[in-house]
Amino acid sequence: MIFVTGGAGFIGSNFVLDWLAQSDEAVLNYDKLTYAGNLQNLASLQGDARHVFVRGDICDQAQVLALFRQHQPRAVVHFAAESHVDRSIHGPGEFIQTNINGTFSLLEAARAYWSELADGEKAAFRFLHVSTDEVYGTLGPDDAPFSETTPYAPNSPYSASKAASDHLVRSYHHTYGFPTLTTNCSNNYGPYHFPEKLIPLIIANAQAGKPLPIYGDGQQVRDWLFVSDHCTAIRRVLAEGRLGETYNVGGWNEKANLDVVHTLCDMLDTLKPKAGGGSYRDQITYVKDRPGHDRRYAIDARKLERELGWKPAETFETGIRKTVQWYLDNPQWVADVQSGAYANWVETNYNNREQ
Ligand code: NAD
Ligand code: DAU
Repeated sequence: MIFVTGGAGFIGSNFVLDWLAQSDEAVLNYDKLTYAGNLQNLASLQGDARHVFVRGDICDQAQVLALFRQHQPRAVVHFAAESHVDRSIHGPGEFIQTNINGTFSLLEAARAYWSELADGEKAAFRFLHVSTDEVYGTLGPDDAPFSETTPYAPNSPYSASKAASDHLVRSYHHTYGFPTLTTNCSNNYGPYHFPEKLIPLIIANAQAGKPLPIYGDGQQVRDWLFVSDHCTAIRRVLAEGRLGETYNVGGWNEKANLDVVHTLCDMLDTLKPKAGGGSYRDQITYVKDRPGHDRRYAIDARKLERELGWKPAETFETGIRKTVQWYLDNPQWVADVQSGAYANWVETNYNNREQ
């Protein structure tokens, strides 16, 4: 079996669903169920013996080690993290705790378990750390995309905490020969994306008749990747990645935020026209920029293509259509995640923000 951390979050739950759709190898899904973790994402696996869910914190080294010994995974795929840049600006503490201390704790448990394995199992064991392109900092308009050798220059508490975790993972390979793999991916989008992030937030706010908040001038560029393509990339790296290596994952889909929002508005205008007429674009509102906002991300994913034959299957146009349709088909999922603590976050981030 494989041991997945954070498998109730956005990418983690897509990964678990994809994994079990393609393989009968069981998954132990270890997740703290923070505000971002949602077992409804995994409802289709209810009663499926291949999926074992355990609620827990990656900082709990003793519990993690006990689970490793009990379930004998052949690999760890580590998604668990605090993942929202704006939240890291309002409160960095949890990011340091989970992303740095939690990854350290998980590495220690995994290394202890790995050191007890017999030679064959030891050689086959893998620890795949899921990271982000944000560790590389920000690009100018004419800069080459981030490659695996771009120096780290994180700019937010979130990206700094992910960078620290990447360095820990690297050091465990270098120092202990621990069999690590790291992926650094660009912005994901798709089903089960929590509506604090740009794309699902815009889809939800548009339908609710609320403002569509654009930070600053809206000309910041992100490189978008449909989530199932990220899952495929992780499976490829897990299967055939070279130990100790890092692999950049990206969609070759650089878009300015304002263009993304226009695309979403236009798509919704067609699929779900506004009751009172007009375009959803009328709801666009410019608000004060995110402090330290990175201007441009772009990923050079050629190493992954060259060495492991991975390419994204979706273009932005096909992926975004599937995404909008998924949100239109699943209003209850959105309503459920927006209840409770979500309202507090909206108030913290948007209510007193200058326009
Ligand atoms: P998410 O916030 O949607 O989910 C995170 C999951 O981790 C949640 O289920 C949460 O309950 C769990 N979790 C948080 N703290 C935990 C802890 N201490 N112990 C156990 N579980 C804990 O995040 P996501 O967007 O799915 O991102 C998953 C990973 O991929 C993260 O490591 C993130 O840095 C990375 N990543 C995300 C993107 C993106 O665009 N979303 C892009 C590149 C890399
Ligand atoms: O690049 C990978 C990263 O992508 C991941 O590591 C992070 O976990 C993930 O959250 C994402 O980070 P971003 O900060 O790029 O994503 P977000 O959806 O928060 O914002 C996308 C862009 O949209 C960014 O330039 C900020 C802008 N934005 C965001 C929100 C929430 C707005 O203009 N308005 C908004 O209300």
